[in-house]
Amino acid sequence: MIQNSYSARAVERFRNPRNYEELEEPDGHAVLTGPCGDTMEFWIQVDDGIVTACSFKTTGCGPSRACGSMATELCEGKSVADALELEQVDILRALGGMPEEHQHCALLAAVTLRAALEEYRKHQADEEEQVKG
Ligand code: FES
Repeated sequence: MIQNSYSARAVERFRNPRNYEELEEPDGHAVLTGPCGDTMEFWIQVDDGIVTACSFKTTGCGPSRACGSMATELCEGKSVADALELEQVDILRALGGMPEEHQHCALLAAVTLRAALEEYRKHQADEEEQVKG
């Protein structure tokens, strides 16, 4: 998914990232800083095992906004199990590829989203433990 320029789909999301907001009372949340020094933050809401809302923010560049946006778009409506399968390559493919120097933006988006989903799963497991007593 390496190419020399950005697709129209990616450029449009540099300018107008989808779901670029903090969610109130999220079911899962994570914030990670990548080796480039940029930070990404994801929030998810889950209803009956389905991701009903997913949002993000980043301190990063245009490509990181495009990658975060696409990660939220791919995640919404999926089961938590399916959303956990989303990888860097899925984001890059959905954006129509990216130049090599910004491929890592998709990795940071994928890893941060997964961390938010895993936090949700951990809460679920903790609650089940408490119910069992
Ligand atoms: S340059 Fe750091 S996430 Fe894109």
